[in-house]
Amino acid sequence: MIIPGDRAVSRSCGELFAPYAAHFYGSATSALAASLVAAVARLRAPTPEVLLPAYGCPALVSAVLFAGARPRLIDLERDRPWMDLDGLRAALGPDTVAVVGVDLFGIPERYPKIREAIAGTGIVLIQDSAQAFPPPADARWLGDYVVLSFGRGKPVSLLHGGAVLAREEELARALPLSPPQVTSGQVRSGLALRAGLYNLLSSAWLYWLPAGLPFLGLGETRYRPLASIEAADPRLMEWLPVNVHTCWRRSDDRQRAIYGMLADSAGDHIVDLPKACVGGAPAFRLLRYPILVNDPIVRQRLFHCLGHRGLGASAMYPSALPGVSGLERFFGGVSCPQADSFARRIVTLPVHSRVRKRDLQRMRGCLVQARTDRRVAGH
Ligand SMILES: Cc1ncc(COP(=O)(O)O)c(C=O)c1O
Repeated sequence: MIIPGDRAVSRSCGELFAPYAAHFYGSATSALAASLVAAVARLRAPTPEVLLPAYGCPALVSAVLFAGARPRLIDLERDRPWMDLDGLRAALGPDTVAVVGVDLFGIPERYPKIREAIAGTGIVLIQDSAQAFPPPADARWLGDYVVLSFGRGKPVSLLHGGAVLAREEELARALPLSPPQVTSGQVRSGLALRAGLYNLLSSAWLYWLPAGLPFLGLGETRYRPLASIEAADPRLMEWLPVNVHTCWRRSDDRQRAIYGMLADSAGDHIVDLPKACVGGAPAFRLLRYPILVNDPIVRQRLFHCLGHRGLGASAMYPSALPGVSGLERFFGGVSCPQADSFARRIVTLPVHSRVRKRDLQRMRGCLVQARTDRRVAGH
């Protein structure tokens, strides 16, 4: 949901993230590229490398390549959205300039452990928090640089923009800046129209519509090279404070309802990912509720059931990064069995504020149905 901002009630965007110094860009991809450009300049390795999780958004690769570094993939830990720490330690070398951790679906990466692994090396730890948006008081911003996205489907969505929060003054100074981009009134009213359309289409009951309109590009995972670091549109950034405060106030009752539903309806062929990560109900806000469905037929049926009822289930990214269209040439021969298995089993459920009680009941129905189908199929 996007709330068109009002200049009169908007506090300065910079103040929102105090004590972190915030730099705004046209997208999280640009923001990530800016932090990587700074990391490459800081370590001056002859052939700089950046370590990334093998499952995730292809924009990570675009940002690394833009910064003139080589992306090196780290496989996931089994049944977790986290990078495998042994694999990470083994990949560290004199050319490593940065490690990018991702708070996938809003589940926090294990930054203290990554920090331990890179201690004393000068390697820059970048926290890609595009899918998570905790308030500063939560003490969950742990990277040297923290990247935020205000793009489509993010916790704070303006359909435009991203930011880098720098932990220290020196890190903030190292970021490349681009001049602010000023859009015309016409472009801005176009954005307002898109915002209205986006709000309308994010209703759970209308999910069939965006899925049926390919030009909206929803659910599509493609590699797009980054041509330049784009600046944020300052007029759209006026909308940021009210949307950020709304995000921080948002209720987590949908994710709590799904947590309860999984505990009593899912069965042992489904891994409740947030629960598996923290051993109980997640205290953090999820962007979407991720589960791993171990049986491919049950997963297919679950997708069918949820899709048929317009419940907005999605696989997020349908393959690990080496399988993403356009990325094959960068990762030929790279093996990441855990990320592949994760991609084959992942299903994510919507938790946004337009998901109604009735939608939750239907989700429960699909989970129960999938479990029954599995019994009938004799698994
Ligand atoms: C983890 C992550 N990082 C970066 C990005 C890129 O964000 P943007 O679309 O704002 O460039 C995304 C987009 O989905 C993402 O999920």
